[in-house]
Amino acid sequence: MELGLQGKRAIVIGGSRGIGKAIARELAREGVDLALVARSREQLEMTAQELRAETGRRAIPLVADVTSKEQVDRMAAQAAEQLGGLHILVNSGSMPGGKATRPIDTIVDEEFLDDFNVKYMGALRCARAAIPHLIKQGWGRIINISGTNARVAGNLSGGARNVALAHFTRTLATQFGRHGITVNCIYPGSTRTERTPRLLAARASELGITPEEVERRDYALDSPRGNAIGRMVDAAEIAHLAVFLASDNASAVTGQVVVADGGAGKAVYY
Ligand SMILES: NC(=O)c1ccc[n+]([C@@H]2O[C@H](COP(=O)([O-])OP(=O)(O)OC[C@H]3O[C@@H](n4cnc5c(N)ncnc54)[C@H](OP(=O)(O)O)[C@@H]3O)[C@@H](O)[C@H]2O)c1
Repeated sequence: MELGLQGKRAIVIGGSRGIGKAIARELAREGVDLALVARSREQLEMTAQELRAETGRRAIPLVADVTSKEQVDRMAAQAAEQLGGLHILVNSGSMPGGKATRPIDTIVDEEFLDDFNVKYMGALRCARAAIPHLIKQGWGRIINISGTNARVAGNLSGGARNVALAHFTRTLATQFGRHGITVNCIYPGSTRTERTPRLLAARASELGITPEEVERRDYALDSPRGNAIGRMVDAAEIAHLAVFLASDNASAVTGQVVVADGGAGKAVYY
């Protein structure tokens, strides 16, 4: 399928590892030049080098913390200048789950506010800085990586900031559709990234079983975390969805939440 992405230019926030890196890789395979953004320079440079070697596309490492308006504005200006314009923004720059995961009586206000500052305000700062460049192209894509805990009661900051990103997505879609810009939100479920082997190994040693058994158990259909496909979703599978949403073929899809969790749970959303 021709996706119309050849020669487009993207900023991928959180592109140094995890879901952001997987999206960056798939975009580059479709012919997109990249600015990869995160805080740790060493990891960014390693990933940029790896993606350049693998895909032959440009991959520029740009260090920025999304909690700083100044750093975000500078990063977006540098990305647009060095890549020669911007078409796509992917917001995947945040720690999964957040820090303020405990019950309400033990919530530390600073941790709660920091969770929102990174994931929600971070996405807002990056979109605000990127949108003028997308308007200039008369074509743009913004993809916000949220998460299915938006739909599961329990994690007060992790869930709420994910819901907030869905609202943000719809609002921007409404405001910028006339400029050829679509804005969508992906809800990944639990997704395999570089940190997954460590997490599975820790649970395995706790339970006295192998990591493979932990995974089989967790994703069985009748388990509380189980899903229809009976296995963990890989970051590359989130990336394939992101690439479609970034493509010309998704031009009528905007303001939407698209879930990629292997069909977890039994709730029916209509
Ligand atoms: N993995 C999952 O199972 C899962 C499930 C549902 C939703 N999600 C969501 O998907 C997103 C990405 O998760 P992931 O699993 O890919 O996480 P990850 O592997 O920890 O990667 C996070 C990326 O964001 C960057 N980052 C973190 N804080 C940042 C900041 N303040 N400024 C700039 N960059 C920052 C990190 O680099 P530095 O640390 O160097 O800055 C890294 O590149 C998160 O929003 C997460 O909630 C993940």
